[in-house]
Amino acid sequence: MDDPLYLQIAARLAQSIRAGTLKRGERMPSVRALAASEAVSPSTAVLALRWLEDARLIEARPRSGYFVAARPPQLPEPETSRPERRSRAVALDRLGQQVMRLSMAPDIISFGAACPGPELFDQERVRRAMSRAVQKHRDLLCIYPTGPGMEEARRAIARHALGLGCALHADEVVITNSCMEAISLCLKSVTKPGDIVALESPTYYGFLEILQSLHLRALEIPTHPRHGLSVDALQLALQTQPIKAVLAVPTLSNPLGACMPPAERRRLAQLIASHDVALIEDVLYNDLAEQEDRRRAVKAFDSTGHVMICGSFSKTLAPGLRLGWVEAGRWGQVLRQTKEVQSGAQTAVLEMALADLLTQAGAGAALRQVRATIAARVDEARGLIAESFPKGSKVTDPAGGYILWVELPPQLDSVALYEACLAENICIAPGLMFSASPRFRHCVRLGVGGRWGPQHPRALRRIGELATQLLLSSAPLAA
Ligand SMILES: Cc1ncc(COP(=O)(O)O)c(C=O)c1O
Repeated sequence: MDDPLYLQIAARLAQSIRAGTLKRGERMPSVRALAASEAVSPSTAVLALRWLEDARLIEARPRSGYFVAARPPQLPEPETSRPERRSRAVALDRLGQQVMRLSMAPDIISFGAACPGPELFDQERVRRAMSRAVQKHRDLLCIYPTGPGMEEARRAIARHALGLGCALHADEVVITNSCMEAISLCLKSVTKPGDIVALESPTYYGFLEILQSLHLRALEIPTHPRHGLSVDALQLALQTQPIKAVLAVPTLSNPLGACMPPAERRRLAQLIASHDVALIEDVLYNDLAEQEDRRRAVKAFDSTGHVMICGSFSKTLAPGLRLGWVEAGRWGQVLRQTKEVQSGAQTAVLEMALADLLTQAGAGAALRQVRATIAARVDEARGLIAESFPKGSKVTDPAGGYILWVELPPQLDSVALYEACLAENICIAPGLMFSASPRFRHCVRLGVGGRWGPQHPRALRRIGELATQLLLSSAPLAA
């Protein structure tokens, strides 16, 4: 489903501001000029400008109109990653699990997890949907659920996927208990122990955990911090190595926040089809992308059934629902069997609540609110990083979502920084967690979507100070 006109205009303007085409301090077009240039009504132009104001990209000056907000000094972005060219068995240490556990601890100021805070969501809307589902479908509570999920929920998900550019059949959708379960089922359906799976580099820590548990080998592919997985590098890897599956997050990858351009998505769909390899596409963050064309999934370009699309609503609707979904293309039947054996069906009443939430009026507005809130948060965090992190640091500029990847000067050991932060009850995620090889030791991932209060900006500054202190006392590290 297309975004409303005002949001399409706001997204384009936001893009121009972020790219520097509209410079900070520059006057924005007036309501009348914007309405005329976009051929929309003045009220639509006002809505677009208000959205940009909410996202703190522009500010109103009394009797003068809107101006591009003074953005803090910008840091450069990291460069395309250059992982090793061979695959590796995944052998994670305990660091990642410790980071994840501490990130959730109540007394910790957490940037360690990629988890949204409850205040980002319309909690009342979720509670009402849940109560309605229990009231209306209470008979389901005492019936054993079987099969791929409630038809209402599968239909609602198929409808939701139209917003990602995908025409899915509800009959082919399987409901799972999370996106991670969906991904794990896909991997089990197309690989066997010892097989090679290609991934972005850096990649999501949870993917490495799944690969390790399934005894799969990781082959990391060069990834650009803004444009994502390099299709050229993947092509070369497919020609030279027996890759069985590609596992990627084309929209707002974790931890880089990269979004593949539409033309690259099309190329990726064609490439995996020509090599008869599965693409396991994680679309968990697609609804958070600022630009509509970046929300379109690779699955939208799949005419051969080689894309297995996986999602959930943990980052956009209600993390506590614990429901995900998958449409496994040509591997649908084997995936359904694997699911049945592995965990059977989910709680039917929860699925009915999800169907309600997805189809009720207000779903689009709630999402727009989440996007605006996190855009402002990310801007604030990037500004604080630019001001307080050591000279030579680089940071990503994601087009949505709430994850930042910071590359510190090469001699800085982010595990030492993590420990120094922890001593002050601050949690960050060291870069090492995001690769199967010992790389990214001088990088950190900062999640800024969690609970947010005045202590968070202070803590971000403090991380910068601690990094600077460590740097002054550290010897050069190997890359
Ligand atoms: C890329 C990616 N996929 C999947 C997940 C987990 O999703 P779920 O909670 O639905 O399992 C995360 C969580 O951080 C993630 O970043």
